[in-house]
Amino acid sequence: ALPQKVKIVEVGPRDGLQNEKTIVPTETKIHLIDLLSESGLPVIEATSFVSPKWVPQMADQVEVMKGICRKPGVSYPVLTPNLKGFQAAVKAGASEVAIFGAASELFSKKNINCSVDESLQRFDEVMKAAKEAGVPVRGYVSCVLGCPYEGKVAPEKVAHVAKRLYSMGCYEISLGDTIGVGTPGSMTEMLEVVSREVPVSALAVHCHDTYGQALANILVALQMGISVVDSSVAGLGGCPYAQGASGNVATEDVVYMLHGLGIQTGVDLSKLMNAGSFICRSLNRKTSSKVAQATCKL
Ligand code: HMG
Ligand code: MG
Repeated sequence: ALPQKVKIVEVGPRDGLQNEKTIVPTETKIHLIDLLSESGLPVIEATSFVSPKWVPQMADQVEVMKGICRKPGVSYPVLTPNLKGFQAAVKAGASEVAIFGAASELFSKKNINCSVDESLQRFDEVMKAAKEAGVPVRGYVSCVLGCPYEGKVAPEKVAHVAKRLYSMGCYEISLGDTIGVGTPGSMTEMLEVVSREVPVSALAVHCHDTYGQALANILVALQMGISVVDSSVAGLGGCPYAQGASGNVATEDVVYMLHGLGIQTGVDLSKLMNAGSFICRSLNRKTSSKVAQATCKL
């Protein structure tokens, strides 16, 4: 049975923009986040407290956090890879954070410069500080359906990292198909294994759309009881440490599919499309959302 409601986690301002080569003006980022919150999205990942040497695009994280107009009821999580990032995030007013690990050793090394075990130790420190500060923590697992450096990734590895993040206190585990190679077949197999270790009510899917499988993968996840979906407005993005990976599935397309299934999201599609047009105009880029490209109307 499909869920009646789905929570969409909009990751465009972070996952979408982090991969842009030219630095996007801080004002543009702030306006994008404000337009997204006006569309009714409940969660908007705003920025990352990562090293500016690693991801220069996110170097204005403090200004972004200060500049956004926080809509009551909306949460604005930020990525924090370590204690330093967590402390800076809290200082900048973040009330929710996300830690991000991987099911693949080589991706972990390339992305956060440490092994999977070392990353879990760092996350433990973040988690302790977050518990003291009363800050909720979301956990990501990358490369759940394949790794750009290791190829196939066993579902058991995903389950192991997901379980560790969940046991340390993450309220939700987002399973990332970082390079968008999964299919409904591999997604089903992976979710069957992971859901033995983490309740489906605490799982989210985070699909990049490189191979055009994201909506199909999301649909099978919904059929397996998952009701949290990450997506990026206009399908922006990619990961700087996963070359060739395209953006996340477009939020517009996810909303269109969910509403077509009779599933509530709380999102106003036309307002969301305004946010998509705004960022595409600003970046001088064509949208990757099929819904935004469509000109034939019902
Ligand atoms: P490192 O170089 O190993 O860090 O990087 P270090 O602890 O050795 O410190 C080196 C320097 O970085 C020091 O500065 C630190 O102060 C500084 P220096 O003394 O040289 O001037 N530093 C920091 N600065 C700002 N914020 C911090 C921070 N920590 C240390 N938090 C580190 C380790 C994790 C910092 C680095 O590898 C990094 O920033 N990685 C982030 C990579 C990233 O953002 N990737 C994209 C997001 S993940 C993703 O897209 C996947 C996802 O969407 C899910 C999916 O699709 O699968 C989530
Ligand atoms: Mg991602």
